[in-house]
Amino acid sequence: METQYRFQKKHILGIEDLSPEDISFILDAADSFKEISQRSIKKVPTLRGKTVIHLFFEPSTRTRLSFEIAAKRMSADTFNISASTSSAQKGETLVDTARNLTSMNPDIIVIRHSSSGSPHLLAKHIGASVINAGDGTHEHPSQALLDMLTVRENKGQLKDLKIAIIGDIIHSRVAHSNIIGFTKMGAHVHVSGPATLIPPGIEKMGATVCHKVEEAIEDADVVMALRIQKERQFDPLFPSLREYAICFGVNDTRIQSAKPDAIIMHPGPINRGVEMTCEVADGKRSVIMDQVTNGVAVRMALLYLIMGGEDR
Ligand code: CP
Repeated sequence: METQYRFQKKHILGIEDLSPEDISFILDAADSFKEISQRSIKKVPTLRGKTVIHLFFEPSTRTRLSFEIAAKRMSADTFNISASTSSAQKGETLVDTARNLTSMNPDIIVIRHSSSGSPHLLAKHIGASVINAGDGTHEHPSQALLDMLTVRENKGQLKDLKIAIIGDIIHSRVAHSNIIGFTKMGAHVHVSGPATLIPPGIEKMGATVCHKVEEAIEDADVVMALRIQKERQFDPLFPSLREYAICFGVNDTRIQSAKPDAIIMHPGPINRGVEMTCEVADGKRSVIMDQVTNGVAVRMALLYLIMGGEDR
């Protein structure tokens, strides 16, 4: 007898933990939530009475705001803690912070932290559901899901697409989640950037390494540029931003060799003129603002599903 699929995750810690079925289910749910943001009254009672805490120990514009908007559009009560306003400033450990938050009985904690693995640590110590909003250089699952939703909307599918990811791969949690996610969904990920910014063994994750950026972009369906993460580079890993822009920047000339209907993506924030020219970022192939719009829908879907979805 055929068993019916059920989404059964309590936490969203990484794309690694999601099956292709889970990913498709989340994207379908996000698709259905998009309509709520188009209404004049953008609010549904789905998460009424639920408490969501946003614990952001690193700066964020898109992720933090879209999680908050998502929770509020579903009528949850939301609270924000940032590094500068939390007692972490006074030396409190993450586990002690987590235990104290648990005592206030939240339902969901959304965490961004500079240490890889911190959402996993939190999930071990608290009863609430945990969503990873970016942990160090490890994963950024909700970003990869909104990226996959944006690609699926534009291309109708993910299977067999060529996805070029260009830039600071080694420090990028977005790259890691996207390589895992797109590969699970049957797409072919090609990465390029300075050799010092490509982690050894990335092929084991399913990515093809292209030492020339032109090889990655040629015939690509999707060209995604990533930010150079100066804050995570303690020693210079390439000569200068100017040289990076010349050798690896995504510009009008380079995107000529992508498929004619290729889309241009960037998770933001963009260093204009470094990883991407303004002409490309604001050009007709760019779907960068659609990524941001889809971020709200994907985060609504995640909050809804980890709270039990239809079973609520
Ligand atoms: N894409 C992304 O994570 O952006 P923020 O750092 O602004 O959240």
